[in-house]
Amino acid sequence: MAAVIPTAFTAREAGQWRIDSVTPIVGASLARAPALHIAEGDPVERPDGVWTLRGVTSNERYANRQERAALAASQQPLGRTGATRAVLIPIRKNEAWWELTQDARRELFEERSRHIAIGLTALPAVARRLHHSRDLGEPFDFLTWFEFAPEHTQRFDGILQQLRESEEWSYIDREVEIRLSRPNPADCGEYVSLAGPATPSS
Ligand code: HEM
Repeated sequence: MAAVIPTAFTAREAGQWRIDSVTPIVGASLARAPALHIAEGDPVERPDGVWTLRGVTSNERYANRQERAALAASQQPLGRTGATRAVLIPIRKNEAWWELTQDARRELFEERSRHIAIGLTALPAVARRLHHSRDLGEPFDFLTWFEFAPEHTQRFDGILQQLRESEEWSYIDREVEIRLSRPNPADCGEYVSLAGPATPSS
């Protein structure tokens, strides 16, 4: 079974990542704050902040055997040296999506929207982790997290645009794009997990 990692993303004064921008794509935005603090573990701590979004990593719902193998062959871990840019994109899908059968969702997700095929073109430059939030009663269904080096920003932006033009995205009724940056981990000690070493004041 895939590891279940409860994760809390909190916007506040101090954290591992600086918040560079918060942009509403569909629906209501989220408030701005100077930094994003990330906590992993169970029970998830809820540090005081402007907002906290919680999610858990989970098993895959859609990827088939070949896709899983292709992903495994080129996906990279989080926390790489040089990966000083990150993007957190919380997403909510509408009721029409959740009313579809699993088969219909898979068809929309991959056969019609090519989500995995498009995503694979950004690997290994972009590292990613998907968190599920819907069953936690959270405001978003998914918290998507991406890390890459500054020189790969265009590549990330390219697949983001392709995905947003896909049929799958017509089922999204809330999406916020949060761009982040941090110093190179090589300059500030070992970075071991998504939560990583927090800034001294956090
Ligand atoms: C970087 C390249 C990307 C790759 C390789 C990738 C791959 C995947 C895969 C394999 C899944 C399905 C997991 C499963 O089987 O349950 C998935 C789900 C998802 N991805 Fe991506 N993705 C990428 C980029 C993105 C981007 C840029 C976004 C958001 C803007 C995004 C949003 C999502 C969401 C919301 C889901 C959950 C869909 C659902 O369960 O309804 N992905 N992605």
